[in-house]
Amino acid sequence: MTMDELKESLSFNHLYSKECLSRGSSPIKTTMKYFLDPDFHFLGAGMPPLELFAFQNFQFQTFDMASYKLNEIPEATVSNTTRLMTGDISKDTFDYDVEISQALQYGNSRGHPELINFLKTHIDTMFHVSKMYSDWDILVNNGSTFGLESCLRVFCNRGDTLLLEDLCYSSTIEAIEAQGINHVPIKMDSNGIIVQDLEHKLRNWDYLYGNLSKPKLMYVIPNGHNPKGTTLKDSRKKEIYSLLQKHDIILLEDDPYYWLQMPDYKRNEKTELEVFENKNQFLSQLAKSFLSIDTDGRVLRFESFSKYFGPGVRLGYIVGSKKILDNIWNYHEVSLQASSGVSQLMVNGCLNRWGQGGFINWFMKLRTTYTQKRNFCLNTLYESIDCFDISDFITVEKAPKAGMFFMIYLNIHKHRLYAENLAKYGKNGISDYYENMFFEKFINAKLLLAKGSWFKVKDPNHEVSVSDTCMLRGTYAAVTPEKMTSGLKIMCTIIKEEFK
Ligand SMILES: Cc1ncc(COP(=O)(O)O)c(C=O)c1O
Repeated sequence: MTMDELKESLSFNHLYSKECLSRGSSPIKTTMKYFLDPDFHFLGAGMPPLELFAFQNFQFQTFDMASYKLNEIPEATVSNTTRLMTGDISKDTFDYDVEISQALQYGNSRGHPELINFLKTHIDTMFHVSKMYSDWDILVNNGSTFGLESCLRVFCNRGDTLLLEDLCYSSTIEAIEAQGINHVPIKMDSNGIIVQDLEHKLRNWDYLYGNLSKPKLMYVIPNGHNPKGTTLKDSRKKEIYSLLQKHDIILLEDDPYYWLQMPDYKRNEKTELEVFENKNQFLSQLAKSFLSIDTDGRVLRFESFSKYFGPGVRLGYIVGSKKILDNIWNYHEVSLQASSGVSQLMVNGCLNRWGQGGFINWFMKLRTTYTQKRNFCLNTLYESIDCFDISDFITVEKAPKAGMFFMIYLNIHKHRLYAENLAKYGKNGISDYYENMFFEKFINAKLLLAKGSWFKVKDPNHEVSVSDTCMLRGTYAAVTPEKMTSGLKIMCTIIKEEFK
């Protein structure tokens, strides 16, 4: 198919919220193009004068990722031998820098064009969106949290329904509930969403959930799921997508851990650096995005720099159909307005000095470092379980292939006082009782693991009671090996004391 034959994305006007439909686009936004024309007498917008901007220069120091060769990945910590590069936005005069006068001014609320160009090339190289439909685009925001919020505002009225995985990032659940939106959980296993459960629930919706409106949206965390640590198998994505098409549902693909994909974990295997023959070999090992199969423009992919550059950068973007993004942009105009120009200038300055290849080098570095962290964590976890002889009482979720989380399940039905506690707290309360008890005991011993119940998505119509296990989530991202070792020792000591 030639580019000319490529279809536009579908219109999803029938799915927009009342709020979205009653919001027009900002009239002032349409005038911004004149501001960029130096011959124009621009008296129309309340913009402060350039000479009164307080900052005249921005400098940063970063790893010199452009200079690294394939398979030569810098150490995790900065040392004397680390090659660093300095960026000086006012002096280096890089062609593709965002000018300070633009970065600190109103305008470009969709994102600075220099940054958008870089990111579009990056996304298209990875996911080939240009081959799927003709009017795809990018909208810069300040991260996935706001990305979700904006999509909820654009699509959902109070009382609408959204599908979630049966465990979900707790802030997502909170955002949905706060807007009075219903959520229905879809079962997951170690490979992500179970397609049959999705199919069953959609096919029998009226019977199972007839009191709820049909779902408009589905939200998934495909790689390095938070909290479960699992990765949605590529082979399931086509089937899921077909179901979404059949039932006219928009997919929100929240994928902040995409570039934290790792090779399979093999117990006791010492961490050896992977060797790639070329960058394509590395890239071909990575999961597919739903964008790569989306011909309708019904997938909105949330990208975020939080896990790659640091959460305080507060920069992200949504990839999807321009028609939908235009509506989200209208919402930005009255809420976010635009994401920080300083952040965009700095991130763009760094990306342009690295180049597309350097950006991929950076991801290879993340992969190496996270693999080492994950392997150290899981090796230590399994060794501690053996050493304390508690393997009957604890089950570890299949090793994560992406992200920063690991999940454990305590087999509470083997606890010495289980029968007594079951009589006291009942089938529905027993898991919470044990979860709270272990959480408190860990906290008193100065160990924090997140409670599994924070991430549970309740089914509004069907009681799902788990009475034989309770869940806890850990992370290996920002933990030193010493703290990981001593933290897991505390955990195993308490489990042993309690269970034996
Ligand atoms: C699945 C998921 N989505 C979104 C976020 C937050 O992302 P951001 O910092 O881009 O708002 C997190 C952070 O932990 C997350 O795990």
